[in-house]
Amino acid sequence: MTANEAAGRPDLTLVGQGPTPAPGLDDLVTAVRAVVSKHADWRKTSQLVADELRTHLPSPEILTAEQRVGDPDTHQSHLLHAEPDGAFSVVGLVWRPGQMTPIHDHVTWCVFGVLQGIEYEEVFTLDEGSDYLIEAGDNSNSTGEVSGFAPPGDIHRVRNVGDGTAISLHIYGTDVSRIGSSVRRYYDLPIRAS
Ligand SMILES: [Fe+2]
Repeated sequence: MTANEAAGRPDLTLVGQGPTPAPGLDDLVTAVRAVVSKHADWRKTSQLVADELRTHLPSPEILTAEQRVGDPDTHQSHLLHAEPDGAFSVVGLVWRPGQMTPIHDHVTWCVFGVLQGIEYEEVFTLDEGSDYLIEAGDNSNSTGEVSGFAPPGDIHRVRNVGDGTAISLHIYGTDVSRIGSSVRRYYDLPIRAS
C-alpha cells in the first residue's frame, strides 16, 4: 500500500502489466515523438502534442473490452505506450460515473483527449501562505475534445459527471511507469471561492 492509499487518497498508479500492444496507436506515437523531439518548452510542447492528439484521436476501442468496463472502486489507468528514452507515455483512463481524482498537480506537461463521455475539471490556485486552495475555474470536456497544460498552475481535480463510463487518453511528458504516477503532489486543503 502506498502512502496515499494509506491516507485514503486513491493513487493514480497504473494497473495491469505495463505496455500492452495497442493497435491504432502507432500514428499517434510517431507524431508525438516528432514534436517532443523538438525540445520546445513544456507549454509549447503541450500545445504541439495536443494538435497531434486532435489529429490522431483514437476510439475507445484502443482499450480492451475488459479495460473499458472500469472498476467500481476507483478510476483506472492503463499504460498503453512508454517511450524507451522516457520522453513521454500514453495512458488510457476509465471512469465509472461519479469517480474522480483527488486534487493534485503534475511533475510534467500533460495532454488529454476524451474518447467517451464527459470529464469535468475543476482548477485551483494555492494561496500565498499555502493554507488553502482558491477556485480558479472549471472545464467540461466532452467526447472528442483535447486539452493540454503544463506546470505550474495545474492544480486540478477531474471527475466523470456523465451517466455512463468515461474514457480518456492522457499523454505525459515522462515515463509514468518508471516514476509510478504523473502526480507531483496531492492537496488536502480547504477550498475557498475566488
Ligand atoms: Fe491530473
